[in-house]
Amino acid sequence: KRHLVSAADLTRDDALLILDTAEELAQLSGRAVKKLPTLRGRTVVNLFFEDSTRTKTSFEVAEKRLSADVINFSAKGSSVSKGESLKDTALTLQAMGADAVVIRHHASGAPARLAQSDWLHGSVINAGDGTHEHPTQALLDAFTMRRHLNAGTGKDLAGRRITIVGDILHSRVARSNVHLLTTLGAQVTFVAPPTLVPIGIENWPCEVSYDLESVLPKTDALMMLRVQRERMNAAFFPTEREYSRRYGLDGARLAQLPEHAIVMHPGPMVRGMEITAEVADSPRCTVVEQVANGVSVRMAVLYLLLGGAVFADGATEPART
Ligand code: CP
Repeated sequence: KRHLVSAADLTRDDALLILDTAEELAQLSGRAVKKLPTLRGRTVVNLFFEDSTRTKTSFEVAEKRLSADVINFSAKGSSVSKGESLKDTALTLQAMGADAVVIRHHASGAPARLAQSDWLHGSVINAGDGTHEHPTQALLDAFTMRRHLNAGTGKDLAGRRITIVGDILHSRVARSNVHLLTTLGAQVTFVAPPTLVPIGIENWPCEVSYDLESVLPKTDALMMLRVQRERMNAAFFPTEREYSRRYGLDGARLAQLPEHAIVMHPGPMVRGMEITAEVADSPRCTVVEQVANGVSVRMAVLYLLLGGAVFADGATEPART
C-alpha cells in the first residue's frame, strides 16, 4: 500500500504488521536508540488545515527519529488564507519534492482526494479528516490495548470488549476504531446520547447502548470521547451537567469496570465533562501512554509506506546512531 487514508482499508495482516513494527521501534527507543537513518534524504510534509497538539507533534517527532527532512505547513499563516486551493497547495508541495504528506483537514474526504489525484506523487497519510477517519489514532489505540489486554498472549484483540462513549456522531476516532478493532477481532459497543448517534449506525459492525452503567462490567477497554462543540450548532449542545451525569466517567463508574480494564481517551480531554480529573489522573487512565505510543505507531506507518524494508544506507537492519 502507498497511502493510509482509512482504517477500513487495512486487512488484519496489514494492521498486525504495523503494530508489530511499532513494537520493534518502541523497543529500540526503550534501548536508547533515539534516531534511525531510515528516511534520510526523504521529505515529509505535515499539512495541517485544522488545529492539533498530539497528532502534529508526534508525527514530527516520528519523522525526525527516522531522519526525514520535515516541513511543517499550517493553513493559518499560509496562502490558504488568501483563497489558495488544496490542489494548488499540493502542486506547490510536489514541486518541493514531498515524498509523503501527512494531512489533517476539516473536510471529510480531503486525504482521499489527494491520494487519488496526480497532484502529488508521494504517500498520503490521513491525520484526521472532518468527521470521517483518523487511522493512526486507531492504530495507536489498538497498540495500547494490545499491550495492556494481551500481555504477550496473542497478536490481535480477538474477544476483547471495547466500549466507546460520547459524541460518536462527530468522531473520526470512533469511525476508525470501529473498523480497525473489528478487523482485529474485538467487539465494539458505542454508548451515546441518542442525538449524538449517527444515522445508519445499524449498518456499522458494533452494538449501541444508551445505558453506560449496564456495559461497564462487560468492558475490557473504555474509551471516552470529547463532545465536539466546534462541529455542532449551539442549539444542540448538551449542558455539561446533564451530559456528565448520564455519560461522564467518575470514580463511582470507574469502580464498576473489571479490575483489568483500562480507561482511554484520544485527547483533548474536557475534564469535568466526559471524564473527571480524578479518573483522568488515575493509574488506570492511559491517555499519556497513548500519546507516547503514537510516536512508535507513526514511525511504523512512515517506515512501511516509504519503503522501510531497506534502510536509507542500503542495509536491511536499522543502523544505530
Ligand atoms: N487525538 C488527537 O487527534 O489529538 P490532536 O487533535 O491534539 O491531534
